[in-house]
Amino acid sequence: MLKKLEEMKSVAVEKINAAKTQLELNECRSEYLGKKSPLNEIMKQMGSLSPEERKSFGQKANEFKNLIEQTVNAKRAYLEEQAVNAKLESEKIDVTLPGKKFSRGSLHVMTKTIREVEDIFIGMGYDIAEGPEVELDLYNFEMLNVPKGHPARDMQDSFYITENLLMRTQTSPVQARTMLKAKGQPIKILCPGKVYRRDDDDATHSHQFMQFEGLVVDKDITMSDLKGTLSLFIKKMFGEDRKIRFKPSYFPFTEPSVEVDVSCFKCGGKGCPMCKKTGWIEILGAGMVHPNVLKAAGYDPEVMRGFAFGIGIERVTMLRHGIDDIRHLYTNDVRFLKQFERGE
Ligand code: PHE
Repeated sequence: MLKKLEEMKSVAVEKINAAKTQLELNECRSEYLGKKSPLNEIMKQMGSLSPEERKSFGQKANEFKNLIEQTVNAKRAYLEEQAVNAKLESEKIDVTLPGKKFSRGSLHVMTKTIREVEDIFIGMGYDIAEGPEVELDLYNFEMLNVPKGHPARDMQDSFYITENLLMRTQTSPVQARTMLKAKGQPIKILCPGKVYRRDDDDATHSHQFMQFEGLVVDKDITMSDLKGTLSLFIKKMFGEDRKIRFKPSYFPFTEPSVEVDVSCFKCGGKGCPMCKKTGWIEILGAGMVHPNVLKAAGYDPEVMRGFAFGIGIERVTMLRHGIDDIRHLYTNDVRFLKQFERGE
């Protein structure tokens, strides 16, 4: 019997070690330790042994069981480790592969212009103001000295929603709104915003564009304040050597009214295609707030005076960056926009 046990031992250990899967291993285990195992068969014959023989055989049988248990456990651990290693190997990450590229967004060139201009005026003590794009005829025209039927309305062919409601044609209605709110107090505001006119779109016109409105109201405001303010703004935007000049013009809500030119920043004033050989580039409209506008908003024009100006944001952006078509600013072609992403 002992001999049988010894033989079985070496066969069993060999078989267990040869198992390739957990399933095979389990089968081996029940083959040698289960109810129908050869060991159990041998044990059935134990009754024929003497007490001493029985004792020593019992010991050997236990040793055999322990050995099988240990061998199975060791093999199980080995198979598990192998499985983990195989998984690690198959899921290995190749860190040398090129990564997915994220493209970074940037501010739109128009947003950059707006922020720069706002910074300049905030530096001069201005507040940033806002007004609605759908505006009352009252603020867009009437309170700006343009009553119904006034010929100046034709210059700003408009999108009307009802007879008294329209898409604002200029940021100037913010003047009227701000003055009404300020109730006779001094004002210093800059208002950037969208405006709408029934224009045919081409390289220099768009039915929707943007303006800055500037308005200063206080005692003793004169045209030299206007000139000094605009001169400083132009130098900051277009370079320290720039000069400005005023040309007489007409706006119903300013008196006197001016067109403001800047000396050409391409040729320095000598004359080139950029300035149409004149040395000057027209850049904005401005003037002293008309007494009728002050009166309509509750200000006494004998005491308070003001200046106002309107700047096209697209025009400033196009001039500064040499952009030849206004439509580039709206079509969101990333190849175009990427040119301006530096310096953020
Ligand atoms: N609102 C005028 C325009 O759109 C510009 C302007 C503003 C002129 C303020 C004078 C004063 O043409």
